Amino acid sequence: MCGIVGYLGQRDSIPVLIKGLKRLEYRGYDSAGIALCGDDEIQYVKKAGKVRDLEAALDQAAFAGNTGIAHTRWATHGEPNDINAHPHLDQTGRIALIHNGIIENYSSLSVALKKQGVNFQTDTDTEVLVQLISAIYSTGEISFAEAVRAALQEVVGAYGIVALCADEPDTLVAARLGSPLVLGVGEDEYLVASDAAPLVEYTRNVVYLEEGELVKIGRDGYTVRQIRNDQIVSKQVTRIDLSIEEIEKGEFPHFMLKEIYEQQRTISDTLRGRLIPSQATARLGGIEDFLPRIEQARRFYITACGTSWHAGLIAKHLLEDFAEIPVHVEYASEFRYRKTVVDANTVVIAISQSGETADTLAAIRKAKDRGALTMGICNVVGSSIARETDCGVYTHAGPEIGVASTKAFTAQVTVLMLLAQMLGRKRNLTAATARKITNALSSVDRLVANATERSDEIKTVAEENQEADNFLYLGRGLNFPIALEGALKCKEISYIHAEGYPAAEMKHGPIALIDESMPVVIIAPHDQTFEKIISNIRAVKSRKGRIITVTDKRCPVIDSVSDFVIEVGEMDPVIFPLIAVIPLQILAYHLAVLRGCNVDQPRNLAKSVTVE
Ligand code: G6P
Repeated sequence: MCGIVGYLGQRDSIPVLIKGLKRLEYRGYDSAGIALCGDDEIQYVKKAGKVRDLEAALDQAAFAGNTGIAHTRWATHGEPNDINAHPHLDQTGRIALIHNGIIENYSSLSVALKKQGVNFQTDTDTEVLVQLISAIYSTGEISFAEAVRAALQEVVGAYGIVALCADEPDTLVAARLGSPLVLGVGEDEYLVASDAAPLVEYTRNVVYLEEGELVKIGRDGYTVRQIRNDQIVSKQVTRIDLSIEEIEKGEFPHFMLKEIYEQQRTISDTLRGRLIPSQATARLGGIEDFLPRIEQARRFYITACGTSWHAGLIAKHLLEDFAEIPVHVEYASEFRYRKTVVDANTVVIAISQSGETADTLAAIRKAKDRGALTMGICNVVGSSIARETDCGVYTHAGPEIGVASTKAFTAQVTVLMLLAQMLGRKRNLTAATARKITNALSSVDRLVANATERSDEIKTVAEENQEADNFLYLGRGLNFPIALEGALKCKEISYIHAEGYPAAEMKHGPIALIDESMPVVIIAPHDQTFEKIISNIRAVKSRKGRIITVTDKRCPVIDSVSDFVIEVGEMDPVIFPLIAVIPLQILAYHLAVLRGCNVDQPRNLAKSVTVE
């Protein structure tokens, strides 16, 4: 939610900031703005729309400077228009602020500020903070950074902020609580941003700000302090390993398509060094020290949001099947406010691509308070969930930029398969069964390639169904979460209403919706429920539904009941979900392109949801 970037150095900051915003646009894209410290004044431009609209507006605005801040927004308070876009200025026009997060007590703060004569210009919670900083700073008794720190002590809510003041043109002040911030330390230049993507061209040396920290950046260095008590914090500089190719589209028309194809590599990257075929098990270094406690746990909770929650549903099947551990899967937004049976005998696993999702982070904090062991399965290295959990496993999918998650999901499922296999081996999973899983996982590259090669056929399916108003996705067992995930992909990027259902449950409601205009995507591998699912397909067929079957192997029965068949190749049923999701990703992609939708930046969504 919202991307923020600040620059202080020798370069013209506008190109650096605009490029940075483009890299952060996946975080929010309804309006954008930029502010620079000019000649004893703050100059700024802000626009509703995408970063390219801001860029066009900048062409007419003649200003330059080498200290600046910029923001791309996902609106929470106040509609996305020019006025509500960030940066926000105080009433003197000498302080500018960009903010990612929500100031929860903005209403009480604004009442107090109005009494002091402040005249608000926008509908945003952020303006309250900049006006508060200004009110404190205007007493003339403290420096700008101290005023920011003092104001933040009055704030309830979540923030990643960067602030500028015309009186101190060679200073940037940034702080975080609940929203991520990373500082890039270059040669005579500094960048601060919501993630590392805007920094990589200039430096690989980064400092991750922790919760409740504030950094004052000047031309001769930076100092990090605790907001709470002003204590200086000594920070470690980390080297990041991120290439520019990983964060650019290259030859692909969309990031989502690039990321779908990358699954040929990312699943193997996630497996590398972790499978131990000789012992038919896996080694997950990030949780090794905690294995005794994990093995003795009485129950697991898995908590996550969106696509990551679907990965959790697959993990429940696998963990219960292989390791016989009871697993509850809960949306993090529910878990955090519910009375759950979580104690020292519980392992709580948070699954999150970004590692920053506010609800998932809050769920983990609650679990820790209850004494549970927390495990993070994250993609973004150094993210908040990765750092705050007791132990964890990275997914190695590389940067995922398309808002609809694809390669991060298959990497999550891969890690969860390894975890289930490893814990299963500690219990009753036989070496023979485990070996079958290991062999199956070793062959995924070829299967992923085979699934992506179906793209043209799937495009034909999309062409013939692009006018549909609704889609139904059905699956059973391990493939029910895949039906949910297929439906989510379809609705989030093509805006076609779609629902996922356990195939047999369809007769308790959704069957009422079926007629000749309803495409029904059925995930039907030749596993132990094959006959059952064929009966489910027949029930749809006899009501004239259009059947799109995703299967491992064509057969006369499938051909006779299906309007379209997508065959992904024979494999062990345990890895079928990992492969079956790929044609569903491709189907959603083609539907969205055919319907003229913005695939990488679907309306109203954001990739990293750092608000409740
Ligand atoms: C947003 C994204 C989804 C993602 C979900 C959870 O809704 O658009 O793609 O699945 O957040 O995000 P996380 O980073 O925690 O996996």
